[in-house]
Amino acid sequence: MKKTRKIAINTGGGDAPGLNAVIRAATLAAIESGFEVWGIRNGYRGLLEPSAGGLVRLDRERVRGIGHLGGTILGTANRGDPFHFPTVVPGSHIPVPVDRADDLIARFKEQGFEALIAVGGDGSQRIAKMLMDRGLPRVIGVPKTIDNDVIGTEVTFGFDTAVSIATEAIDRLHTTAESHERVMVIEVMGRNAGWIALRAGLAGGADVVLIPEIPFHYEPIVAKIAQRDGRGRSFTLVVVAEGAKPAGGQVSVKDEGDVFRGVAQLGGIAAHVEKELARRTNKECRSMSLGHLLRGGGPTTFDRQLALRFGTAAVRYLVESGASGVVAIRADTIELCSFEVVTSGTKTVPPDCDTVKTARLMGLCFGDERPERFFAI
Ligand code: F6P
Repeated sequence: MKKTRKIAINTGGGDAPGLNAVIRAATLAAIESGFEVWGIRNGYRGLLEPSAGGLVRLDRERVRGIGHLGGTILGTANRGDPFHFPTVVPGSHIPVPVDRADDLIARFKEQGFEALIAVGGDGSQRIAKMLMDRGLPRVIGVPKTIDNDVIGTEVTFGFDTAVSIATEAIDRLHTTAESHERVMVIEVMGRNAGWIALRAGLAGGADVVLIPEIPFHYEPIVAKIAQRDGRGRSFTLVVVAEGAKPAGGQVSVKDEGDVFRGVAQLGGIAAHVEKELARRTNKECRSMSLGHLLRGGGPTTFDRQLALRFGTAAVRYLVESGASGVVAIRADTIELCSFEVVTSGTKTVPPDCDTVKTARLMGLCFGDERPERFFAI
């Protein structure tokens, strides 16, 4: 009798609009290609923790009508790294990090899975690679993040949606900023990359954009506000990436993170900028953080299509090649990129890239200009 070929799929790290489209596309493509498909619940926890939901069979019925939905039907986990898995050991009720990678691989093999489609950001792809090095048979990674900071792919799904939501928010804040002649400081996610702030700031007509890649000074921002006041535009919109920092200063951190999560939770820079600008300009200033709004809800058409293409390409590579790797888009073509490249660092905004040049020529301030410039115009 012919053996059933089984594959698993999981979603790890922070969610991003488009995850369900990947799950749907990969499932349909895999079924078409003769595989049985299973979802691992909550990152890797479904295979390691009895209470985490285990595995869910993905069939046509299960993935019907989910392509446009936000979130992930499989659930995800930020504290599910199998190499530092939170485990309660005898004698204590406080979880400690335990290397459960071998357990995970054993259970994966017991289930008869021949490959994993791992949908996640650079952290998840790093874990997937480490699992393969330990003996997981085969992984095709699908890069995901609203931050757009994954190396190897020109863009990740979730990014376009996040930029669209941020742009709409900036549009809305314009009217209230103008009515009250205020300085509005809007913080957007993106971790150590300024892609969301840059793109949404440009599209939304912000006056100042502060990104991690260009440490800022307050003087040029104050000068920009004064310049606008002088032109009868007595309000200013400042978009700040959560990872932006003043020159010589520190990134604003909400939570240092712990051994399970690994990375710090960024946030709070908008409130600092608001305070400092109020002090320096004597104008009414307000700040807000758009936070997780940028990750909520369904994907834009662009993200939906990219996610569908990534999901099917993952299966195509499983079927057509023996290789492992991460699907990536370059020049509108989906390719397989190596784990080494994808996990080699973070894709940040080149300070001299085309979008920054465009913004500068339109008069946007990045906080690194010489203040005299504003008075010379
Ligand atoms: O990586 C996606 C992201 O939304 C970042 O932009 C942000 O810094 C982080 O995740 C927030 O993580 P959490 O959902 O754990 O608060």
